[in-house]
Amino acid sequence: MYLYQDYDRQLLAERVAQFRDQTERYLAGQLSDEEFLPLRLQNGLYIQRYAPMLRVAVPYGMLGSRQLRALGHIARTWDKGYAHVSTRQNVQFNWPALEDVPDILAFLATVDMHAIQTSGNCIRNVTTDEFAGVAGDELEDPRPWCEIIRQWATFNPEFAYLPRKFKIAVNAVPDQDLALVGVHDIGVQIVHRDGETGFQVLAGGGLGRTPMVGEVIGEFVAWPDLLAYLEAILRVYNKYGNRDNKYKARIKILVKALGVDAFRALTEKEFAHLQGGPMTLTAEEVSRMRGYFSRPPYAADATDQPAALTAALDADAALRRWYRTNVSAHGQPGYAAVTLTLKKTGRAPGDITDTELDAVADLADRYSFGEARTTHQQNMVLADVRQDQLPALWQELEALGFATPNFRLLTDIVACPGGDFCSLANAKSIPVAEALQRRFEDLDYLHDLGPLDLNISGCMNACGHHHIGHIGILGVDKKGREYYQITLGGRGDSHCVIGEKLGPSFEADEVVDVIARLVDLYVEQRHPGEGFIDTYERVGIEPFKERAYGSHH
Ligand code: HEM
Ligand code: SF4
Repeated sequence: MYLYQDYDRQLLAERVAQFRDQTERYLAGQLSDEEFLPLRLQNGLYIQRYAPMLRVAVPYGMLGSRQLRALGHIARTWDKGYAHVSTRQNVQFNWPALEDVPDILAFLATVDMHAIQTSGNCIRNVTTDEFAGVAGDELEDPRPWCEIIRQWATFNPEFAYLPRKFKIAVNAVPDQDLALVGVHDIGVQIVHRDGETGFQVLAGGGLGRTPMVGEVIGEFVAWPDLLAYLEAILRVYNKYGNRDNKYKARIKILVKALGVDAFRALTEKEFAHLQGGPMTLTAEEVSRMRGYFSRPPYAADATDQPAALTAALDADAALRRWYRTNVSAHGQPGYAAVTLTLKKTGRAPGDITDTELDAVADLADRYSFGEARTTHQQNMVLADVRQDQLPALWQELEALGFATPNFRLLTDIVACPGGDFCSLANAKSIPVAEALQRRFEDLDYLHDLGPLDLNISGCMNACGHHHIGHIGILGVDKKGREYYQITLGGRGDSHCVIGEKLGPSFEADEVVDVIARLVDLYVEQRHPGEGFIDTYERVGIEPFKERAYGSHH
């Protein structure tokens, strides 16, 4: 992973000191709430229902074991003993005291971490595929490009006060999009043409109150031009984006209002000034960045399907089940990537305790070259596990409760914190997730259902990505009461689609039954080998509507 240089550390130290001073002045009454607001947001600090929420940046989801332990230490020392993995690969703390935040940030800086630009109207954490660098089918490792973008975006004065927040994701796998480039303000898809790296650049995607899938702006941007091209898009947005109405301020609204062709023409005009200028990337710089993401020292004698693994799989049905769902292919022979599902029933999706963070750090050291990743599905990944060590790792994960074999199945629910924490929520999310996990706890049934993305958001801001769930659940408010609206057919993969509303919303105690009815319909209608989303796309929404509302007619 990228290693901080002296100048990175100096930047962080200066920022920590600055925020300490700002916080002290606020607490002493020398700064008003209004004056303090942008200062705290620039440092990842929201004020929430019960306490501040601190969002810590996890660039493209990469964490070293030292950093995992530091997060554990923060959870133990300054929070209530846990942290939360967000849908943008970041880590959030729900209970820090405001006066402790400068100390937390100072401590984070000791492990080269920070909360800069994790909120506010700036370029946020750059995200990517959680299997970046190890997925056998990626064109190349996207992380060096993410890091190049991160360094360009960090403290870039021109983009410190954008009309609204701005999210960039990079994907390197053709025909598969774990990075969700389609629903980011800018999506960068790595493509190769005649042996040269380039980027298909999308803009204008995003979720929230007006969900949209991004449009292709640049069909093939040559690699030296990446930053100049991104800068051109940002300049157009900065200039023409709506600053009067925050609900119309995201770039998606601008792309839609201007039309994609006009937006592209404006971008090209800016790009013409910038191309070949000081932002042009050199082979030297790209290779320097790639150097930080060199391949770990894989064992040359490791082989695929080693005898130790095959024998263990033959002997143990539970191991087989986990292997089928939570173990992913790896580009290096003899290795595999393992997903730790942070979806224990009865706990908010993505929550992880201080001791569990320490335990994951330990497992990362022993099984995965000291590194782990966070995922937008609110899980964690150990990306470099020797296949002959999978049975031993599985046992340790079982003991920790992270081996639930439900990766990408119905109970691997993605959910925002909702009404339990968030002051913007219309309804709770966590109890709905829990009730669904309890209803679908039969693992045989769950595996029989196959892949099913179920996403829950407590309000239209869509932090739980409900629009791109095969089944989406959205909390809505009806005369002060909590209701839930269901969407179907969303997908966040390379065929990105925004889900369609099923119909009138349901009361909290109806939701689980309705989902069960929708799932039953899928089981009745599916053709052999068809997943939920395929059946839905074949039969359309009508039969699902009938099944969901039939009993009310
Ligand atoms: C303090 C709690 C939070 C607040 C106040 C908050 C606020 C918001 C708001 C206002 C939006 C809508 C932005 C827009 O459409 O312009 C939004 C979107 C979003 N938030 Fe949050 N959020 C919070 C927590 C979270 C959490 C816990 C997650 C992850 C689980 C998250 C991830 C996201 C994502 C992925 C989006 C949608 C991005 C998009 O529209 O492109 N947020 N949030
Ligand atoms: S979707 Fe709404 S309720 Fe959920 S975290 Fe985001 S702002 Fe809060």
